[in-house]
Amino acid sequence: MKSLAGKVAIVTGGGSGIGAAAARALAADGAKVIVAGRRTAQLKSVAATAPGAIRSFQCDVSDFTQVSDLFTSVFANEGQVDLLLNAAGIYWQNSLAEFDMADWRRIIDVNLTGAAHAIHCALPGMLAQDFGRIITLGSRSAHTPGAVTSAYSASKAGVEGLTRSVAHEILWQRRYRPNVHINVLYPGRTVTDLLEGSTDQPEKYQSPEDVYPFIKALFLRPRRSGMGQIIYRRKIVSRGDVKLRAKQIRANLWGAKK
Ligand SMILES: NC(=O)c1ccc[n+]([C@@H]2O[C@H](COP(=O)([O-])OP(=O)(O)OC[C@H]3O[C@@H](n4cnc5c(N)ncnc54)[C@H](OP(=O)(O)O)[C@@H]3O)[C@@H](O)[C@H]2O)c1
Repeated sequence: MKSLAGKVAIVTGGGSGIGAAAARALAADGAKVIVAGRRTAQLKSVAATAPGAIRSFQCDVSDFTQVSDLFTSVFANEGQVDLLLNAAGIYWQNSLAEFDMADWRRIIDVNLTGAAHAIHCALPGMLAQDFGRIITLGSRSAHTPGAVTSAYSASKAGVEGLTRSVAHEILWQRRYRPNVHINVLYPGRTVTDLLEGSTDQPEKYQSPEDVYPFIKALFLRPRRSGMGQIIYRRKIVSRGDVKLRAKQIRANLWGAKK
Protein backbone atom coordinates (compact mmCIF):
# COMPACT_ATOMS: atom_id res chain seq x y z
CA MET A 1 0.00 0.00 0.00
CA LYS A 2 1.51 3.30 -1.05
CA SER A 3 -1.14 5.76 0.07
CA LEU A 4 -3.74 6.30 2.75
CA ALA A 5 -6.12 8.04 0.34
CA GLY A 6 -9.68 6.75 0.68
CA LYS A 7 -8.96 4.74 3.84
CA VAL A 8 -11.37 5.08 6.75
CA ALA A 9 -9.64 5.78 10.07
CA ILE A 10 -10.94 5.92 13.61
CA VAL A 11 -8.78 7.87 16.06
CA THR A 12 -9.77 7.53 19.70
CA GLY A 13 -8.48 10.42 21.78
CA GLY A 14 -8.61 12.42 18.55
CA GLY A 15 -9.70 15.65 20.21
CA SER A 16 -6.24 16.65 21.42
CA GLY A 17 -2.53 15.92 21.48
CA ILE A 18 -1.06 13.12 19.38
CA GLY A 19 -4.49 11.84 18.29
CA ALA A 20 -5.61 15.27 17.02
CA ALA A 21 -2.35 15.85 15.14
CA ALA A 22 -2.61 12.37 13.58
CA ALA A 23 -6.26 12.95 12.60
CA ARG A 24 -5.40 16.19 10.81
CA ALA A 25 -2.42 14.61 9.03
CA LEU A 26 -4.43 11.52 8.04
CA ALA A 27 -7.07 13.79 6.50
CA ALA A 28 -4.34 15.71 4.66
CA ASP A 29 -3.16 12.34 3.31
CA GLY A 30 -6.64 11.67 1.91
CA ALA A 31 -8.15 9.43 4.60
CA LYS A 32 -11.64 9.84 6.02
CA VAL A 33 -11.21 10.26 9.74
CA ILE A 34 -13.55 9.88 12.68
CA VAL A 35 -12.22 11.42 15.88
CA ALA A 36 -13.64 10.04 19.13
CA GLY A 37 -13.38 11.29 22.68
CA ARG A 38 -15.49 12.69 25.48
CA ARG A 39 -15.22 16.47 25.00
CA THR A 40 -17.28 17.51 21.98
CA ALA A 41 -15.82 21.03 21.73
CA GLN A 42 -12.30 19.65 21.23
CA LEU A 43 -13.50 17.04 18.74
CA LYS A 44 -15.47 19.59 16.74
CA SER A 45 -12.55 21.98 16.55
CA VAL A 46 -10.37 19.19 15.12
CA ALA A 47 -13.14 18.25 12.65
CA ALA A 48 -13.44 21.92 11.60
CA THR A 49 -9.83 21.90 10.36
CA ALA A 50 -10.81 19.51 7.55
CA PRO A 51 -14.57 19.75 6.94
CA GLY A 52 -15.89 16.68 5.15
CA ALA A 53 -12.72 14.70 5.82
CA ILE A 54 -12.89 14.60 9.63
CA ARG A 55 -16.06 13.78 11.54
CA SER A 56 -16.42 13.75 15.31
CA PHE A 57 -18.17 11.25 17.54
CA GLN A 58 -18.55 11.61 21.28
CA CYS A 59 -17.48 8.41 22.97
CA ASP A 60 -16.04 7.28 26.29
CA VAL A 61 -13.85 4.32 25.33
CA SER A 62 -14.24 2.73 28.75
CA ASP A 63 -17.96 2.22 28.03
CA PHE A 64 -18.39 -0.69 25.62
CA THR A 65 -21.86 0.41 24.47
CA GLN A 66 -20.51 3.81 23.41
CA VAL A 67 -17.61 2.22 21.51
CA SER A 68 -19.98 -0.19 19.82
CA ASP A 69 -22.23 2.76 18.81
CA LEU A 70 -19.18 4.52 17.36
CA PHE A 71 -18.29 1.58 15.13
CA THR A 72 -21.93 0.98 14.15
CA SER A 73 -22.15 4.63 13.04
CA VAL A 74 -18.91 4.43 11.05
CA PHE A 75 -19.88 1.17 9.33
CA ALA A 76 -23.32 2.67 8.51
CA ASN A 77 -21.85 5.88 7.07
CA GLU A 78 -18.54 4.76 5.57
CA GLY A 79 -19.08 1.03 5.08
CA GLN A 80 -15.71 -0.01 6.52
CA VAL A 81 -12.96 0.68 9.04
CA ASP A 82 -9.41 0.32 7.70
CA LEU A 83 -7.26 2.04 10.31
CA LEU A 84 -7.61 2.29 14.07
CA LEU A 85 -5.39 4.51 16.19
CA ASN A 86 -5.98 3.99 19.91
CA ALA A 87 -4.71 7.31 21.27
CA ALA A 88 -7.23 7.74 24.10
CA GLY A 89 -5.39 7.76 27.38
CA ILE A 90 -5.11 9.27 30.83
CA TYR A 91 -2.13 9.64 33.12
CA TRP A 92 -2.59 10.31 36.79
CA GLN A 93 0.24 9.94 39.26
CA ASN A 94 0.03 8.65 42.79
CA SER A 95 1.65 6.03 44.97
CA LEU A 96 -0.36 2.83 45.14
CA ALA A 97 -0.68 3.29 48.89
CA GLU A 98 -2.39 6.62 48.41
CA PHE A 99 -4.28 6.02 45.18
CA ASP A 100 -8.04 6.19 45.38
CA MET A 101 -8.66 2.73 43.95
CA ALA A 102 -11.54 4.00 41.83
CA ASP A 103 -9.03 6.31 40.09
CA TRP A 104 -6.55 3.44 39.75
CA ARG A 105 -9.22 1.31 38.06
CA ARG A 106 -10.23 4.22 35.83
CA ILE A 107 -6.73 4.33 34.30
CA ILE A 108 -6.95 0.63 33.46
CA ASP A 109 -10.51 1.07 32.17
CA VAL A 110 -9.51 3.83 29.76
CA ASN A 111 -5.97 2.92 28.69
CA LEU A 112 -6.31 -0.86 28.52
CA THR A 113 -9.97 -1.88 28.43
CA GLY A 114 -10.81 1.11 26.21
CA ALA A 115 -8.26 -0.11 23.64
CA ALA A 116 -9.65 -3.66 23.90
CA HIS A 117 -13.18 -2.35 23.28
CA ALA A 118 -12.12 -0.61 20.07
CA ILE A 119 -10.05 -3.56 18.83
CA HIS A 120 -12.97 -5.93 19.55
CA CYS A 121 -15.25 -3.77 17.38
CA ALA A 122 -12.71 -3.18 14.59
CA LEU A 123 -11.32 -6.68 14.12
CA PRO A 124 -14.23 -8.65 12.58
CA GLY A 125 -14.67 -6.12 9.74
CA MET A 126 -10.92 -5.95 9.13
CA LEU A 127 -10.62 -9.74 8.97
CA ALA A 128 -13.64 -9.95 6.64
CA GLN A 129 -12.13 -7.44 4.20
CA ASP A 130 -8.60 -8.80 4.77
CA PHE A 131 -7.24 -5.35 5.43
CA GLY A 132 -6.69 -3.44 8.62
CA ARG A 133 -4.04 -1.64 10.62
CA ILE A 134 -4.37 -1.20 14.38
CA ILE A 135 -1.95 0.89 16.42
CA THR A 136 -2.21 1.49 20.14
CA LEU A 137 -0.01 4.15 21.69
CA GLY A 138 2.09 2.55 24.39
CA SER A 139 4.73 3.85 26.72
CA ARG A 140 8.17 2.92 27.99
CA SER A 141 6.49 3.25 31.35
CA ALA A 142 5.32 -0.34 30.78
CA HIS A 143 8.89 -1.45 31.55
CA THR A 144 10.31 1.49 33.50
CA PRO A 145 9.49 1.47 37.18
CA GLY A 146 8.06 4.67 38.63
CA ALA A 147 7.14 5.25 42.25
CA VAL A 148 3.90 6.97 41.28
CA THR A 149 3.05 5.26 37.99
CA SER A 150 1.71 1.87 39.05
CA ALA A 151 -1.65 2.27 37.32
CA TYR A 152 -0.31 3.88 34.14
CA SER A 153 2.60 1.40 33.87
CA ALA A 154 0.26 -1.54 34.44
CA SER A 155 -2.17 -0.22 31.83
CA LYS A 156 0.57 0.19 29.22
CA ALA A 157 2.11 -3.21 30.02
CA GLY A 158 -1.40 -4.58 29.57
CA VAL A 159 -1.66 -2.90 26.17
CA GLU A 160 1.45 -4.81 25.06
CA GLY A 161 0.07 -8.15 26.27
CA LEU A 162 -3.25 -7.36 24.62
CA THR A 163 -1.56 -6.50 21.32
CA ARG A 164 0.62 -9.61 21.24
CA SER A 165 -2.31 -11.83 22.10
CA VAL A 166 -4.54 -10.30 19.43
CA ALA A 167 -1.72 -10.70 16.90
CA HIS A 168 -1.79 -14.43 17.71
CA GLU A 169 -5.57 -14.41 17.50
CA ILE A 170 -5.40 -12.93 14.00
CA LEU A 171 -3.21 -15.87 12.96
CA TRP A 172 -5.68 -18.21 14.60
CA GLN A 173 -8.44 -16.74 12.49
CA ARG A 174 -6.47 -16.57 9.24
CA ARG A 175 -3.92 -19.27 8.56
CA TYR A 176 -2.50 -17.52 5.52
CA ARG A 177 -0.49 -14.35 6.06
CA PRO A 178 -3.19 -11.86 6.99
CA ASN A 179 -3.20 -8.26 5.85
CA VAL A 180 -4.48 -7.20 9.26
CA HIS A 181 -1.73 -5.91 11.54
CA ILE A 182 -1.74 -4.88 15.16
CA ASN A 183 1.19 -3.19 16.88
CA VAL A 184 2.10 -0.84 19.72
CA LEU A 185 3.90 2.44 19.06
CA TYR A 186 5.77 4.33 21.75
CA PRO A 187 5.35 7.95 20.69
CA GLY A 188 8.21 9.23 22.83
CA ARG A 189 7.95 12.25 25.09
CA THR A 190 5.53 14.69 23.57
CA VAL A 191 4.19 18.03 24.76
CA THR A 192 0.48 17.44 25.33
CA ASP A 193 -2.14 17.95 28.03
CA LEU A 194 -1.42 14.43 29.29
CA LEU A 195 1.88 15.34 30.91
CA GLU A 196 0.78 18.72 32.22
CA GLY A 197 2.42 19.32 35.57
CA SER A 198 4.49 16.13 35.44
CA THR A 199 7.48 17.52 33.58
CA ASP A 200 9.65 20.56 34.20
CA GLN A 201 11.46 20.38 30.85
CA PRO A 202 8.79 20.61 28.14
CA GLU A 203 11.31 22.25 25.80
CA LYS A 204 13.06 18.88 25.49
CA TYR A 205 9.87 17.21 24.26
CA GLN A 206 8.71 16.77 20.67
CA SER A 207 5.44 18.18 19.34
CA PRO A 208 2.40 15.94 18.64
CA GLU A 209 2.93 16.48 14.88
CA ASP A 210 6.36 14.81 15.16
CA VAL A 211 4.72 11.46 15.94
CA TYR A 212 2.63 11.19 12.78
CA PRO A 213 5.39 9.98 10.38
CA PHE A 214 5.83 6.88 12.56
CA ILE A 215 2.08 6.26 12.70
CA LYS A 216 1.88 6.65 8.95
CA ALA A 217 4.80 4.29 8.35
CA LEU A 218 3.03 1.58 10.38
CA PHE A 219 -0.28 2.14 8.59
CA LEU A 220 1.53 1.83 5.23
CA ARG A 221 3.40 -1.36 6.10
CA PRO A 222 2.99 -4.07 3.47
CA ARG A 223 1.11 -7.33 4.08
CA ARG A 224 4.21 -9.32 4.93
CA SER A 225 5.23 -7.30 7.95
CA GLY A 226 5.63 -8.36 11.52
CA MET A 227 2.95 -7.76 14.07
CA GLY A 228 2.50 -7.95 17.78
CA GLN A 229 5.55 -5.68 17.78
CA ILE A 230 6.47 -2.88 20.13
CA ILE A 231 7.94 -0.01 18.15
CA TYR A 232 9.65 3.24 19.05
CA ARG A 233 9.96 5.57 16.08
CA ARG A 234 11.27 3.19 13.38
CA LYS A 235 13.03 0.89 15.82
CA ILE A 236 11.48 -2.42 16.80
CA VAL A 237 11.88 -2.58 20.57
CA SER A 238 10.33 -6.01 20.81
CA ARG A 239 9.53 -8.24 17.88
CA GLY A 240 6.98 -10.51 19.44
CA ASP A 241 7.10 -14.13 18.36
CA VAL A 242 3.92 -14.33 16.38
CA LYS A 243 5.39 -15.83 13.22
CA LEU A 244 7.63 -18.32 14.99
CA ARG A 245 4.85 -19.70 17.09
CA ALA A 246 2.26 -20.15 14.37
CA LYS A 247 2.31 -23.95 14.74
CA GLN A 248 1.89 -23.69 18.44
CA ILE A 249 -0.96 -21.22 18.01
CA ARG A 250 -2.83 -23.72 15.88
CA ALA A 251 -2.22 -26.36 18.53
CA ASN A 252 -3.62 -23.99 21.16
CA LEU A 253 -6.66 -23.34 19.03
CA TRP A 254 -7.27 -27.05 18.74
CA GLY A 255 -7.01 -27.32 22.52
CA ALA A 256 -9.34 -24.37 23.06
CA LYS A 257 -12.02 -25.85 20.83
CA LYS A 258 -12.14 -29.16 22.68
N1 LIG B 1 2.53 12.69 25.63
C1 LIG B 1 3.49 11.76 25.84
O1 LIG B 1 4.67 12.07 26.13
C2 LIG B 1 3.14 10.30 25.73
C3 LIG B 1 4.16 9.35 25.93
C4 LIG B 1 3.85 8.01 25.84
C5 LIG B 1 2.56 7.62 25.52
N2 LIG B 1 1.59 8.54 25.34
C6 LIG B 1 0.24 8.06 25.04
O2 LIG B 1 -0.26 8.73 23.90
C7 LIG B 1 -1.69 8.74 23.97
C8 LIG B 1 -2.20 10.14 23.61
O3 LIG B 1 -1.87 11.03 24.65
P1 LIG B 1 -1.49 12.56 24.44
O4 LIG B 1 -0.11 12.72 24.94
O5 LIG B 1 -1.80 12.99 23.06
O6 LIG B 1 -2.43 13.28 25.53
P2 LIG B 1 -3.81 14.04 25.41
O7 LIG B 1 -3.70 15.25 24.57
O8 LIG B 1 -4.29 14.22 26.80
O9 LIG B 1 -4.74 12.99 24.63
C9 LIG B 1 -5.45 11.99 25.27
C10 LIG B 1 -6.83 11.94 24.65
O10 LIG B 1 -7.55 10.85 25.20
C11 LIG B 1 -8.89 11.25 25.34
N3 LIG B 1 -9.53 10.47 26.38
C12 LIG B 1 -9.22 10.41 27.69
N4 LIG B 1 -10.08 9.60 28.34
C13 LIG B 1 -10.93 9.13 27.40
C14 LIG B 1 -12.05 8.25 27.43
N5 LIG B 1 -12.47 7.70 28.57
N6 LIG B 1 -12.70 8.00 26.28
C15 LIG B 1 -12.30 8.58 25.11
N7 LIG B 1 -11.25 9.39 25.01
C16 LIG B 1 -10.58 9.67 26.15
C17 LIG B 1 -8.84 12.73 25.72
O11 LIG B 1 -10.02 13.42 25.30
P3 LIG B 1 -11.29 13.60 26.26
O12 LIG B 1 -10.76 14.04 27.58
O13 LIG B 1 -12.10 14.64 25.57
O14 LIG B 1 -12.00 12.30 26.30
C18 LIG B 1 -7.65 13.21 24.90
O15 LIG B 1 -8.06 13.75 23.67
C19 LIG B 1 -2.07 8.26 25.36
O16 LIG B 1 -2.47 6.91 25.30
C20 LIG B 1 -0.77 8.35 26.12
O17 LIG B 1 -0.71 7.40 27.18
C21 LIG B 1 1.84 9.88 25.43
